[in-house]
This record gives sequence, C-alpha cells and structure tokens, in this order.
Amino acid sequence: MSMKATPASADQCPAWASLAEAAESLRTGTIQSLFDTDPQRVARFSVDGAGLRCDFSRQHADANVLHLFASLADQLQLRERISQMFDGELINTTERRAVLHTALRRIGAPGEVVRVQGVDVMPDVLRERARMLKFAESVRSGSVRGSTGQPFERVINIGIGGSDLGPAMAVEALHAHAAGAPRLAFVANVDGSQLVDALSSADPARTLFIVCSKTFSTQETRANALAARAWLQERLGAAAVPAHFAAVSVNAAAMDEFGVHPDYRFAIWDWVGGRYSIWSSIGVALAIALGADGFEAFLAGGRAMDEHFRHAPWEQNLPVLAAMFGVWNRNCLGLPSLAVLPYDQRLSRFPAYLQQLDMESNGKSVKRDGQPVFGPTAPVVWGEPGSMAQHSFFQLLHQGSPVAALDFILPRESSCGRPEQHQLAIANCLAQAEAFAFGRGVQRISAELRASGLDAQHVAELLPHKVHEGNRPSTLILFRRLDPRTLGSLIALYEHKVFVQSVVWGINAFDQWGVELGKKLCEGILPLVRDPASALAASATGTGPLTPSLAGVLKWLSGAGDVDDGSSA
Ligand code: F6P
Repeated sequence: MSMKATPASADQCPAWASLAEAAESLRTGTIQSLFDTDPQRVARFSVDGAGLRCDFSRQHADANVLHLFASLADQLQLRERISQMFDGELINTTERRAVLHTALRRIGAPGEVVRVQGVDVMPDVLRERARMLKFAESVRSGSVRGSTGQPFERVINIGIGGSDLGPAMAVEALHAHAAGAPRLAFVANVDGSQLVDALSSADPARTLFIVCSKTFSTQETRANALAARAWLQERLGAAAVPAHFAAVSVNAAAMDEFGVHPDYRFAIWDWVGGRYSIWSSIGVALAIALGADGFEAFLAGGRAMDEHFRHAPWEQNLPVLAAMFGVWNRNCLGLPSLAVLPYDQRLSRFPAYLQQLDMESNGKSVKRDGQPVFGPTAPVVWGEPGSMAQHSFFQLLHQGSPVAALDFILPRESSCGRPEQHQLAIANCLAQAEAFAFGRGVQRISAELRASGLDAQHVAELLPHKVHEGNRPSTLILFRRLDPRTLGSLIALYEHKVFVQSVVWGINAFDQWGVELGKKLCEGILPLVRDPASALAASATGTGPLTPSLAGVLKWLSGAGDVDDGSSA
C-alpha cells in the first residue's frame, strides 16, 4: 500500500492555489456584498466550541473559501499532525523535544498515558500539579508562613516572557475570582523599576517571592531574583531566605544553589515551551489567586478546547477556522498585522500575552526542513482594550494604511459588577465591528452633510475626509463571562490557532532561535557599559574590540558627548 507523503507546507497543496484564485476574485468585492448575497451568512460563519462563539461573518471570505479551508486542512493531513502533538512525538525538531502543554491540562483518567520517548509523563504531571496546588492553598490559607511566623499578604512573581506574561495576564483577567488571596505583583523588567515598585510598600516578613524560570539562567530573572534576595536578607537575615522563596524550573540544581527549600521547588519539563507554560507550576501565582478549584476550572477550559480541536469537523473547528482566516488575511489578502481588541479592561494584558505566543512561535522565515517559507508568516500582533484604543489608534484602523485584521473579544456579562457600564462597552464593540466591516460611502455621507445644513462647496471639501471605505475584516469572539474556565478555553483557542498556522507555513512553532543573538551580544557588551572609558581607551590603542556603532554610544555613556538640554541658556 502506498502512503501519501505529507506536504511540507500549504503551497504544496492544490487547495492553496484555489485559495489564491478565490482571493483574486473577491478582491474587488466588499464584505457588504457578501452579506447581500448570502442570507445565511451569519449562521454559516458563526461557530461554537468550549464555551466560546466565534463570529467570522465580517471576514472578507465567502462559503467557497470556507470549503477550501477544509480541503487545505485535509491535504495538509492536519488530523495526523494534531495527533502527533498530543501523542508526544518530537515535533519540536530543532530542539528534538515533544510539545506537551496539552498533557498539563489532562486529568489523568485511568489508562490515560502520554509517552515521551517511551516514558509516560502523566504520573509526574499529576504529582507536581497536586504539590503546587497544595502549596497555593497553604499560601492562601496562611498555613505556609514566613520566617517570623506571619502569613503572607503579598506574593511577588519574578520571571519574564512565558514565565511572566501568562500568569500576569491571567491574574489580572480573573481579578474578580481572587477574593481572599494575598496581593500579587509581577516583576519582569531587567531595569529593576518593577521590583522597586513592588518592594516599596512590602513588609518583608509577610512577602513571598516566586522565581519562575524554565532555565533558571535568564539574565533578567536572575538579576531581579538576586536583588529580591538581597533585600530580604538585609531585613530578615540570610536564614530567612528558604521560607520566603519558592521557585519553578527544569533546573533543580540552580534552585538548590539559590537557596530554595525542596518543599517550595516545583518542576517543569523540557517539553513545556515557555510561552505554553501557564498550565504548569509556572501558573502557581494564578493558583494562589484562584485557589485549587479555580485553577482546576482554568485547566478544564483548556481541556475542553483540546477536545473540540481534536474532534470537531474542520468547518466547525474554532482553532482551525481562526488559523485559516489568519492565513487568509496574511497571505491571500496581504494584511500585515492583527489588532487584538478586548472589550473588558481585565483583559488588558491579553494582547501582550498573544504577542509572545504568536510572534515567538511563528515569527520565522524558514520551514522545518530549513527551506525558505513560501510567503509571509506571523502577523504583527498588537492591541489594547478597545474602549481606550478607540480614542488612540482606531483612526488609523478606520482610514489609514496598512489595513489590519481585527479580533474583537467580548464577554456578555460585566466582570466588575457594573452591567449598565458594560452595556456601553458592548455597544461600542458592536458599533466598531459594523463600522470596520461596512464603512460609510460617498452617497450616505454627502446626504448627511447636506442634511446638516452645509453648503455644496463645504460638502465637497469634507467628503473625501469623511468617507469610510470599510472592508476591514474582523472576528468577534463572544462568551458569557470572563471566568477561569472561559479564560482557559480562550488561551487554548489561540495556542491551537498558532499551531495550525505553523502547519500551513511548514514551520516549527516551538523553538525561538532568533532571540539568542541579542542575548549573546549582551554578554559581551555589558562589561563595556560598566566601564565605557576603559573600553574607549582600549579601542583607541587598537587593543579593544569596539565597533564604530558602539563607540559612538559609549562616548555618550561616558559623559563625553552629553546632550545639551538647553537649561543653561
Ligand atoms: O528569550 C525568550 C525566552 O526564552 C522565552 O521563550 C521564555 O518564555 C523566556 O525567555 C523566559 O525564559 P525562562 O523561563 O527560562 O526564564
């Protein structure tokens, strides 16, 4: 029996050429005309799964395109590719690792086995989850205490990238579900300002630090963790450190060396990518905020999306459709960015979280086999809570260039107990989605201007400025309320979307080699920054390695070329 070879990327599939043709023929039409010609459009383009509804009807695509998405998924053998991820195959090829964040949300039902190179990882996953949740509950209840016997009133999470963005975003998003928890703060930036702010009002005897770092070697996290330890030691003495520091890492030896008590150390594994790690003990700050039941509900939301992703047919599969519309916008319609616009202030860090998830995963130019990708990959992801964004950058989105694709995220219920104010948020969100899709044309605007009493010349002058072209594609992601389960589903939706897009582009979504060069160069530059005068002197005598581009800035750094601020004039 001859097995069909798996295509390396979408450009090797017949459906890809058909999608390009479809884009060409739709290019001259409008989203409005797609609504006019298909009375079933909203039903056809609205899909439910794992507590979320995605309304894709404002995308610039017709039913034929939906059909081609399904064909493309089949031709890419997506079902098999999904199974490879869930089954622990080494799909992170450059690092020769499995990718098993989905195992972190499993319940460990009898017979549920997830093997990595022949070894079942579920016993370790369940054991560490139980330890971490017990610890989180003990911090909440006050049974775990600081060195002076006082309960913790403040928890400071120290980490960066995936060891910060997920927990920080989720703790803020689920603020309404964190009653009774200690105050949580997040410190990531290497410059120390977040740490200074977090410590400024902290009582050392009642402060717990959690150092989250998969590697435990990240410069930013080490700098902040060492500064926090020094702060604590100065106030409570070195013997107090083990009672005030917990840590999460693959690197047990480094946690030991730092002085973390074995009971407060939590393991993760190399098959958990940093940006996919919130489901592991890296989420301990979230577990402290929510308690064990809340964290379990969060995992259940992710698990529900996993089930949906694995089993729903392509036409009803939220992550697959979200991915395909993203690829359609990026590659077929040429839209370079995706603006993420939550209409709930509690999701204010969600765009930042997605930036790492999407751009660190798919911001690549070569395929798994080392060949160039056939076209553009991850869009620039950006965004802000919609309410504020309307009054800052929406002008560009409405009438500027380039055109961006848009994700509106909208809960039905208020997350802060203010239903009437939330209705304002909902109305604004819907108004914007309508305006972006349908715009407002010349005839309607000129009629409105004439009706307002303007003379013909004034109308003619204003007209080009007021016309809204519309045709800005968007997806509405709707759900009942922002709770732990729903947030779990929402995050997993985007995780799987990113994975499907990586299959379309043929890239490995789970490495991040591009971030290494800057880290390496920083090691060499740090001594120059610490002593710019010596570096400049050495370079003048030809004994120091200084590039011209660095020399200029080092001169300024040494104070030699200070900028006149005009205050002496
Ligand atoms: O520099 C990028 C990165 O490696 C991310 O992928 C990761 O989430 C972050 O740094 C932090 O890494 P760690 O958890 O090992 O400190």
